[in-house]
Amino acid sequence: MPSTILLRNGLIVDGSGKAGYRADVLLDGELIAQVGTIDPATAEETIDCSGLVVAPGFIDVHTHDDAIVLDAPGMLPKISQGVTTVVVGNCGISLAPLQTEAPIEPLGLLGTQRFRFERLAAYADAVNATRPALNVAALIGHTSLRAAAMPQLDRAADAAERAAMAGMLRQAMDDGALGLSSGVFYENAYAADERELAEIAAAAAGAGGVYATHIRTELDGILDAMQEAARTARHSGLPLVLSHHKCAGPANWGRTRETLALMDRLATRQPIGLDVYPYTAGSTVLREDLVDGVIDIIITGSEPHPEMAGKLLADIAALWGVDQREACRRLIPGGACYFQMNEEDVRRVLAHPRTMIGSDGLPHDVRPHPRLWGTFPRVLGHYCRDIGLLQLESAVFKMTGLPAAQFGLDKRGIITPGNYADITVFDAQTIRDRATFSEPDRVSEGVRHVFVNGGLGYEENSSTAHSRHGRFLRRGLRD
Ligand code: ZN
Ligand code: CU
Repeated sequence: MPSTILLRNGLIVDGSGKAGYRADVLLDGELIAQVGTIDPATAEETIDCSGLVVAPGFIDVHTHDDAIVLDAPGMLPKISQGVTTVVVGNCGISLAPLQTEAPIEPLGLLGTQRFRFERLAAYADAVNATRPALNVAALIGHTSLRAAAMPQLDRAADAAERAAMAGMLRQAMDDGALGLSSGVFYENAYAADERELAEIAAAAAGAGGVYATHIRTELDGILDAMQEAARTARHSGLPLVLSHHKCAGPANWGRTRETLALMDRLATRQPIGLDVYPYTAGSTVLREDLVDGVIDIIITGSEPHPEMAGKLLADIAALWGVDQREACRRLIPGGACYFQMNEEDVRRVLAHPRTMIGSDGLPHDVRPHPRLWGTFPRVLGHYCRDIGLLQLESAVFKMTGLPAAQFGLDKRGIITPGNYADITVFDAQTIRDRATFSEPDRVSEGVRHVFVNGGLGYEENSSTAHSRHGRFLRRGLRD
């Protein structure tokens, strides 16, 4: 592997949101050495980037890749999209710090065999020993803390339990965590009250963490759920990140006008960010209360009926001669894609200036939601180029500079000398997602070269296996 690589004559979209410009970029070792007009003689290898965009590697801010980076470290679904860093530990679910043989719902979203890390430092060591293809940064999940600290989860934590969870979070922050995530939407966290959440989260305040949350409901009660999240963040002294923002259910379609207005109002008194994936279907565990008989639901996997993966719940119900709720009960435990959103809402959220891109991909599903393989090229191809919803520079900002600043990922997310050489070279004319609900694991088109910490980690249409250059990223200083 040459130590100096020249990316010549590309359009530099540097991740700051500023207009792109034509220039060369010199990578030296794991860093960006120079940006400008550079003599090719200075580099051991030159890659012609004429007609291509040279951008910072994408940061997938919302993932459940905690275990897959250890089990399938090639991370093709992500690196083939140009992703060079994944933020794990979202929705209250993280591998560390928890040791258990039998993970409770919804921790099983991470697979079942990996809850073996007593503290985040041990997980970080495992990531570094495995050396996945991309970088890994970690939130600590509130539901995981509950599973580690509480004998029963159908009530709010008492004072001693709150103190124990705060202590675990404090230690994780020392180990480099990005902050706390919660998933009070889910069983086993739903009984947590604001005091529990705010007291635990406060343990991350001194260390510069964030509070990311899958709010209590994204259905009718969404405004109250957002207010709860905002109060929790204010009381704990943390910036708030609203996860996978959406208004779910036909009765709430169009209401992102209200939710984004509320967010803008809240943002005048506290720091707020949000993330989104570019699809009208969500995906999570199978739950009877999400089956309304109206929206389409596709099964992504089922323990009792694995043969039903990929089928519509309505068809399964018809086949069995039962209603959809009964069919759902028979398929549990399992997962599904829920077509619960409206296209106009998805566009409104994507276009909001505070919005970052996060795939929320579920890598352990048999037939996963296509967002696992397609999110970033779909934003750049469909939403940016094809329908013109976003400027190229602002789409890239949402994937790079904005998340790096939001999560305190030092020296990432911007192309500038001295930063780490996480770089994605893509063709803005051809980039597109190819993953669909019927064929979810198809590699995207138009992502040409991906560098992680200065090493080439992915090339389009290349049959040679590339070496893996990722590492665990500790939280840096947030601006
Ligand atoms: Zn979630
Ligand atoms: Cu999630």
